Amino acid sequence: MIKDVKSILLNEKELDEITSTLAKKIENDYQDKNLLLLGILKGSVVFMSDLMKKINLPMQIDFMKVSSYGAGTKTTGKINIMLDLHRNDLSKLDILIIEDIIDSGRTLSYLSEYLRLAGAKSVKTVTLLDKPSRREVEFTPDYCGTTIPDEFVVGYGLDYAENYRTLPYVAILKPRVYKSK
Ligand code: IMP
Ligand code: MG
Repeated sequence: MIKDVKSILLNEKELDEITSTLAKKIENDYQDKNLLLLGILKGSVVFMSDLMKKINLPMQIDFMKVSSYGAGTKTTGKINIMLDLHRNDLSKLDILIIEDIIDSGRTLSYLSEYLRLAGAKSVKTVTLLDKPSRREVEFTPDYCGTTIPDEFVVGYGLDYAENYRTLPYVAILKPRVYKSK
């Protein structure tokens, strides 16, 4: 365990179980669909790579990059699309947006609507983590790994100021890490 970590919220075994359960559900629901896994950079990449290997279906992957956060732990409330999805076959695609975590709900509610308006055949969402107590806009993901309390977490793709994404577990940092910024 690295020195900045206070405690581990989800260990590697728990994350493996979560991704297996989600993959099974998705596999079941997307049997006769044209699945596109759409990862939201950068937070979803670790979760996405584990999840997609467990979904035994033909599918494609793609990415978008959005930002709603500044450098720290507070949202700015505004969604910016930094990397868009440039495809001309949207009307044929059943898009499953992959997120690391839902907090205010703004990112996924905005993106789901954006992709529907752009003409996607269907749009659903999967998130590894959900903090329902933090919602500012109404939003319920179609698939959710697990809900967590109102704590800022890092690891398994999630960052604090771009660090800690490569930890193989989801963890809470020591308070001094946030205070020193
Ligand atoms: P929302 O738009 O407020 O739902 O924010 C979702 C985004 O905020 C996620 O994709 C993360 O990048 C970021 N975020 C929210 N909570 C956390 C956290 O606890 N740790 C790391 N990133 C977080
Ligand atoms: Mg982030």
